[in-house]
Amino acid sequence: MLRITTIVGARPQFVKAAVISRVIREPFRDRVSEFLIHTGQHYDENMSDVFFRDMEIPQPDLNLQIGSGSHGETTGKMLIGIEAALLANRPDLLLVYGDTNSTLAGALAASKLHIPVAHVEAGLRSFNRQMPEEQNRIVTDHLSRVLLCPTSAAVKNLAREGVVEGENGYRVFRTGDVMLDASLFYRERVANRSGGIVSTLGLSGDFFLLTMHRAENTDDPRRLRAIWEGVSSSEIPGVFPVHPRTRKVIEQIGLRPAKNITLIDPVGYHDMIELESSCRFIVTDSGGVQKEAYFFGKPCITLRDQTEWVETVEAGWNVLAGADSTTISQAMKRPIAPKEQPPLYGDGNSGREIVQAILTAL
Ligand code: UD1
Ligand code: UDP
Repeated sequence: MLRITTIVGARPQFVKAAVISRVIREPFRDRVSEFLIHTGQHYDENMSDVFFRDMEIPQPDLNLQIGSGSHGETTGKMLIGIEAALLANRPDLLLVYGDTNSTLAGALAASKLHIPVAHVEAGLRSFNRQMPEEQNRIVTDHLSRVLLCPTSAAVKNLAREGVVEGENGYRVFRTGDVMLDASLFYRERVANRSGGIVSTLGLSGDFFLLTMHRAENTDDPRRLRAIWEGVSSSEIPGVFPVHPRTRKVIEQIGLRPAKNITLIDPVGYHDMIELESSCRFIVTDSGGVQKEAYFFGKPCITLRDQTEWVETVEAGWNVLAGADSTTISQAMKRPIAPKEQPPLYGDGNSGREIVQAILTAL
């Protein structure tokens, strides 16, 4: 039996862990066991608990309840808590997801204890080293033994940094993207429920969905105001589930609500899937939401200057509008939906491929 300890802490990690946890509990239950640690980086009901409920993720075996704070403070507290748990449990492998401070703390704590690390969503790069996520990705990838890459671009990025299959103990796999598995699995459930968020909000299909929470946008009032001006010019109504980080800044700088955009609290995964699959197009600075736009065949306008998900731009489904109000408003007038939608992120079976790859690698 392979004993895995998994680290989650932030919203996108719950979505990814839901897929792998299900695979571990079902097809691989005789070969793999999981101990789930929640760092507590996200803790509001609608940023954490709702995902465990909606996605039927087992309750964490341990919640470190770290909460919010500066990068150094929270990452340091996570490191202390994760190290203690690893010393107590001595798992065969530590599994981390994505690029948050919880990811970095997990990878660092385990590698110092010589516990091999597997990284889901390895090899993603924006080539913007100012981003905390880029810093977390680079360090995590170099500390990991098993690199689970969603795309061929990710495999190439790793190779450029000398992280190559078979060299220095690295095992590099291209597995597709677990977020595709999640959207396929939960889309079916959402399709069969009644009284969902679209009808509750009184929306017809003709609306756009907005999400925005990146530090580079929220912490720069000039960028935030320019984005706000751009999205406010839309001819159709918008729905904006507001991340708590963004809510705080909107209140601080007194950003006036646009008439055409309904601000709501962050929503659970089921509601999000319903909004994404029902809208006309999506405007976002989220990594996960850019991909989900593609999965649901919705044009995406990305409020960033770079993206890690370059294939969506190359395929013509995603436009990088940065924080330029004119570019944003023009892109929103003519969102492009190409005819072709190649399978960029695998076939929806990445969860199984990832667990199989881990078993092969160890
Ligand atoms: C984090 C990740 C980011 C990811 C995002 C997903 C890092 C460096 N960043 O950013 O990569 O895209 O999660 O959503 O790890 N807050 C609450 N309640 C909560 C959680 C947060 O009020 O449940 C507020 C707090 O004021 C907190 C702020 O949001 O200070 C930012 O939270 P934090 O986890 O530090 O970063 P995110 O912006 O959420
Ligand atoms: N999400 C959600 N409710 C929201 C906003 C996002 O369920 O109100 C989901 C979204 O569908 C995706 C994940 O959270 O699966 C992405 O997380 P986020 O945008 O916070 O982080 P990122 O992917 O940018 O790191």
